[in-house]
Amino acid sequence: MAIYKWPAADGRSRRWSRIYLLVLCAALYYYYSGSAAFQLANYRPLDPETLAKRERIIAQCRYTRTPAGPPRNFHSRDHSDRYVPDTKPTLIKNARIWTGGQNGTEIVQGDLLLQKGLIRAVGNFPLHFLENFQLEVVDAHGAWVTPGLVDLHSHLGVGSAPDLTGADDTNSYKAPILPWLRSLDGLNTHDEGYELARSGGVTTAQILPGSANDIGGQGFVIKLRQVKERSPTAMLVEPPFTLNGTYFDHDLPPRWRHMKHACGENPSSAYSMTRMDSGWEFRLAYESARKLRDAQDKFCSKVEAGLWSGLGDFPEDLQWEALVDVLRGKVKLSVHCYEAVDLDMIVRLTNEFHFPVASFHHAGETYLVPDLLKKTWGGAPSIALFAANFRKKREAYRGSEFAPRILTSHGLSVVMKSDHPVVNSRYLLHEAALAHYYGLPENVALLSVTVNPANAMGLGHRLGRIQEGELWSRCCDIYCNSDVVIWDSHPLSLGATPLQVFIDGIRQFQTPHVSVKPPFAQRCPDTPKFDKEATEAFEYEGLPPLTPKSAQRAVFIDVGGVYTRSNGELAIHQNPEVVVAHSGKIVCAGTRMTCSEFLNDEIVIIDLEGGVIVPGYTSYGSPLGLTEIRLEPSTNDGRVYNPLARDPPAIIGDTLIRAIDGLQFEGRNMLLAYRGGVTASIVAPSGDFVQGVSTAFSLGAHHLLENATIKSDVALHVSITMNGAQSVSTQIAALRHLLFGTGGDEMLERVRNGRSTLVVDVNNADIMATLLRLKAEYENRTSKTLRLTFAGASESHLLANEIASAGVSVIVTQPKPFPDTWDERRILPGPPLTADSLVSVLLAAGVNVGVGLTNEFEARHLRFEASRVVLSANGSIDLATALKLVTTNLEKALGIHDTMPQDLVAYPGGHVFDFEGKAVAVISEQLGRIDLFV
Ligand SMILES: *[C@@H]1O[C@H](CO)[C@@H](O)[C@H](O)[C@H]1NC(C)=O
Ligand SMILES: *[C@@H]1O[C@H](CO)[C@@H](O)[C@H](O)[C@H]1NC(C)=O
Ligand SMILES: *[C@@H]1O[C@H](CO)[C@@H](O)[C@H](O)[C@H]1NC(C)=O
Ligand SMILES: *[C@@H]1O[C@H](CO)[C@@H](O)[C@H](O)[C@H]1NC(C)=O
Ligand SMILES: *[C@@H]1O[C@H](CO)[C@@H](O)[C@H](O)[C@H]1NC(C)=O
Repeated sequence: MAIYKWPAADGRSRRWSRIYLLVLCAALYYYYSGSAAFQLANYRPLDPETLAKRERIIAQCRYTRTPAGPPRNFHSRDHSDRYVPDTKPTLIKNARIWTGGQNGTEIVQGDLLLQKGLIRAVGNFPLHFLENFQLEVVDAHGAWVTPGLVDLHSHLGVGSAPDLTGADDTNSYKAPILPWLRSLDGLNTHDEGYELARSGGVTTAQILPGSANDIGGQGFVIKLRQVKERSPTAMLVEPPFTLNGTYFDHDLPPRWRHMKHACGENPSSAYSMTRMDSGWEFRLAYESARKLRDAQDKFCSKVEAGLWSGLGDFPEDLQWEALVDVLRGKVKLSVHCYEAVDLDMIVRLTNEFHFPVASFHHAGETYLVPDLLKKTWGGAPSIALFAANFRKKREAYRGSEFAPRILTSHGLSVVMKSDHPVVNSRYLLHEAALAHYYGLPENVALLSVTVNPANAMGLGHRLGRIQEGELWSRCCDIYCNSDVVIWDSHPLSLGATPLQVFIDGIRQFQTPHVSVKPPFAQRCPDTPKFDKEATEAFEYEGLPPLTPKSAQRAVFIDVGGVYTRSNGELAIHQNPEVVVAHSGKIVCAGTRMTCSEFLNDEIVIIDLEGGVIVPGYTSYGSPLGLTEIRLEPSTNDGRVYNPLARDPPAIIGDTLIRAIDGLQFEGRNMLLAYRGGVTASIVAPSGDFVQGVSTAFSLGAHHLLENATIKSDVALHVSITMNGAQSVSTQIAALRHLLFGTGGDEMLERVRNGRSTLVVDVNNADIMATLLRLKAEYENRTSKTLRLTFAGASESHLLANEIASAGVSVIVTQPKPFPDTWDERRILPGPPLTADSLVSVLLAAGVNVGVGLTNEFEARHLRFEASRVVLSANGSIDLATALKLVTTNLEKALGIHDTMPQDLVAYPGGHVFDFEGKAVAVISEQLGRIDLFV
C-alpha cells in the first residue's frame, strides 16, 4: 500500500490535496458503507428487538448451511431421549448376540445390559458393578439376540388394519406433487398392525406416504411400542425440528427429515399421467425449490456480509421448504422406483438439481443397472427390496429373488423392507431369511433389516446395532437405543419368532408364548446353491427361461426317504438305496442290486445326498393358472360377473363359469411354483359371490391338451363377505335359493346331491356359523349330504369344534395371519402372542385342514408355509401332517383326493422344514415324464 505523503504547503497543491482527501473519503465511504466495519464505526445501538431479530436471522442462515445429523456430544448422553423414567434396567444373560458390528459378522457370547433406554454393556463385563441397580434379569439360555428390526418402508398406521374406509390415510389424491404433506398427520394410533409387527421383532419403522404421487410427502420414523401419551407425536424418533413450524431454535444441529417420491405406474395411474408427465412434474417442483433455495442463499450472503439495509425477510414458502431441504441434503429421500426407465429419470433429476437419494424402494430392476445407480448425485442409494413379491404388475415383472445377492456383489447396500401391509411387517425378518435362502450372504441378510435401514434413514447413530455405551466400552462411537430381540431360533431360520422384544429398554410381552424349536433351527440354514439361476436372471434381464428339461428315465441315488400319496393318505417308504423312475412313475425302489435291470448308461443319475422324494404339493387359493400379471387385465382370465350386483348376460343362461375354460400355461408364477415342488393347482374363477367351478391341473404342462387336466370340474366356489356388494343376509339368501332350488348347472345339481363339494370363501366366524346352520337345515330337509368346505377361514378357530362335528373341512389361506378386513379381525396370531395358532387348533379339534395361499407369486414357497405351521405348533404337528396340509388334506377338502396323480418331487439333502434344499426333479405321472430343474 502506497504511503500518502503530504505535499509541500503551497496554495495550489494544498487545494489539490484537499480535493484528493475529499475524493479518498468519498471512495472510502462508498467502499465501507453498509459494511460491518462501517457500522461499527458509526455504531448506533440497535433496539433489542431488531438485535434479537438479526440474531435469529443469523442463526437461521447458519442453520441452512449446517449438515443434518446428531449433535456432537450425542454419544456421551447418559440416557435416551425416549427413556421412560422408572423403567428398570434389564440384564439379559447368556445370549448369543449378533451385534451388527464388523460388517455383520460379529457375534458376542455373553450378557447385555439395558439401562435408561440405552445399551450400556455387551459381552463379558463385571457384574458386581450392577449390585446397586434394581435389575430385571432375563436368562436367554444361549438364545440368539439381535438389535430390534428396522423397517425402512411401512404404511403401518396410515393404512388401516382392519381395512376401514374411515382410516385410510396412505395417499392423498389431490395432486402429483405434495412435498408439504406429513404421514404423521394420518398416523392412527389404534392400528392392529403395531402389536403384530412387534411380535415379529420390528421395533422401528419409517412410515411413508403412499406412492400415488410423484412427491407424496414427508415420512416419519416411529418406535412401535405403546407410549404413555398415546399420541402419534410421542412415538417419533428424533423428529426434525421443522415439526413445530418454521420458528425453532436454529442453534440446534438439524435432524434428518424424510420424504417419499415415487415414479412409474402408481403416480401415472392415479393422475392419468404418463412417465413423461411425471418427469416434468418433478422438474417443475425442483425448479421451484431451487429458486427458493437460491433466494435464501442470496439473502444469507448479505446477512453474513452485514448488509442489513433493505434486506427484507428471510425468503420462505411453507409449501416448498421441505423440498429446499432436499436440495440442502438434509432429507433422507425414499424413492419408489421399479424399472430402468424410471431409475434413469430419477438419476438424471438428481444430477440436474444436485440432491442425494437415500434409498430406492421396490427397485425391481436395480440389479440389472448397477452402474446407473452409481451415477446418482451424491453416491449410490441403498436398495430396499422385497424378497419375492414380484410380477403383480408390469413394472415388477422382471423382479428377481436374486437381486439382493447381485446388488451386494456390486458393493451396494441392500435393505429388505415390508411396504406394510403389502408384506405384513411382522414377517420382515422372513424377507431377509428368504433373500438369504436365494443367496444373500448371512451377514448382509441380517444387516439388511437392522444396520442398513437404520443408516438409510439417517439413524444409524442410535438404531440397528447392539453397541455398548461408555460404561465398559472398547470403543464408544455408538451408543445405541436398547431395542433388542431375543429369538427362539437362528434369526435366518424359517419362522424365527421372538421370545421377547425390548423397545427403549421396555419389555413388550408380559407372558410371551413359546413354540419350542427343533435343534437344527438354532444354526444358520445351509442354503442351496443358486449360482446358475442368479447368473441367468441377470443375463436374461429378469426373464430367464424356466421351462424344465424333460427325461423319460432317471435314477435317484442316496435317497433318504420316499413319501407317496396312497388312498388319500401318505405312505412312507424308508431309505431305498436307489429309486428308478420311468415315464413319470417309480418303477423300482430298492438296492442297486434289486433295481439292476433298470440301470444302464443312458440314464440321468441324480444324487439326493440323503434328501427325500415327496408328493408334489397342490396349490389352492390364488388364481395360479388364470392370471399372469395381476394388475394387467390383458394378461388375465378376468373376473366373473357377480349376479348379485348386476344381471348376468342372458347368453350365459344358467351355466356356471368354469376355470378350465380360462386356463393359461407356462406363466412365470406357474413355472416357479413348479420349480418349488408344487405340481398341481386347483383354481377357481375369480369373482364375488358365485365364482364358478374350479379345475385341477398340472403346473408342468405346456398346454391344456397335453394331459394337463387332473379333473376338469372339481368343486363349486362361492364367496361370502361383509365387504360384498350386497348384504351378508342377501348373499346367504341367494345361496339358500341355489341349494333348495332346482335346475341350473350340472355342477349345482352335483352339490345338491352331495356328489361335489361346495367351497365357501369365508373368513368371518359369524358367517361360518350361519353356513353351518344352513348345512344342518339343508341336510335335515332334503336328507342329503351337503359337502361343505370353508376356505380362508381366518376366524374358524372360534368354531373349531362345531366345524369338526359338522364334518366341514377348512382350507387356511392365510397361514401368516393378518386382520386385513373386519371379516377376519379375530385372527389367532400364534406365538409369541398366543399359545395356539389357527391350524393347530383346528387339527386338535379333529377338523380336516389344508393350507393354501392367496398370492400366485407365493405358490412357489408353499413348502415353507407348511413348515411355518409346524414350527409354530410347539411339536404338536409332525412332518407327515405338514405334508398332508398341502397335499392329501387339501385334496380331501376339495373332494379330489381319489383323482390325484402320483406326482413326486425330489429334494437333495437339507431340512425340508427349513430354508434348505431345492427341488431338482419332478416325477410326473400326470405328464408321463420326468422334469429336471438342474
Ligand atoms: C461385507 O460383507 C459382504 C458379504 O459377505 C461383502 O460382499 C462386503 O465386501 C463386505 N464389506 C466390507 C466392507 O467388508
Ligand atoms: C415441539 O414443541 C414441543 C413443545 O414446545 C416440544 O416439547 C418438542 O420437543 C418440540 N419438538 C421438536 C421436534 O422440536
Ligand atoms: C329337522 O326338522 C324337524 C322338523 O322340521 C325338526 O323337528 C328337527 O328338530 C330338525 N332336526 C335338526 C337336527 O335340525
Ligand atoms: C411348548 O412345549 C413345551 C414343552 O415341550 C412346554 O413347556 C410349553 O409350555 C409349550 N408352549 C406352549 C405355548 O404351549
Ligand atoms: C394322464 O393323466 C392321468 C392321471 O390323471 C394318468 O393316469 C395318465 O397316464 C396320463 N396320461 C399320459 C399320456 O400321461
